[in-house]
Amino acid sequence: MSYVTYKVIHYLGIFLLVVALGAALGRRVTSEGPDPLRRRFVALHGVGLFLVLLGGFGLLARTGVSHGALFPGWVWAKLAIWVVLGGTVMLARRRAGWAMPLLLVVPALAALAGVLAFLKPF
Ligand code: HEM
Repeated sequence: MSYVTYKVIHYLGIFLLVVALGAALGRRVTSEGPDPLRRRFVALHGVGLFLVLLGGFGLLARTGVSHGALFPGWVWAKLAIWVVLGGTVMLARRRAGWAMPLLLVVPALAALAGVLAFLKPF
């Protein structure tokens, strides 16, 4: 697949991830107790995470980054962000009080992941 195709997959994954997290976190802020739609959001979030990874590693292959040597630092930083965003649904379930701050942290991390790919600072 082409660079552009992988980029669209990457973006689709990012949007799905952020929308699913926003919905799950928003409901966590306003309601007490278990969310009956939680499994649905978790599933959408999981598909988003998968697409981000698929698109991300496709982009790495297309830009020649993954050839041979160990990944550069910005890729590891993006992987760390991916792991944190992946753990966010669980965090929100365990600690309802974190749902509101996470509504700001999630887009901030997503923007940071974009800046890391754009500037490749390390
Ligand atoms: C799983 C780890 C990830 C890998 C391996 C990865 C890899 C990449 C690569 C290789 C690019 C293209 C860089 C280029 O064109 O030179 C890219 C772009 C981008 N990534 Fe990721 N990424 C990952 C996770 C994420 C996450 C979690 C987000 C946000 C939630 C994200 C947001 C973006 C954005 C916004 C761009 C476009 C930046 C630009 O070129 O203007 N990435 N990513």
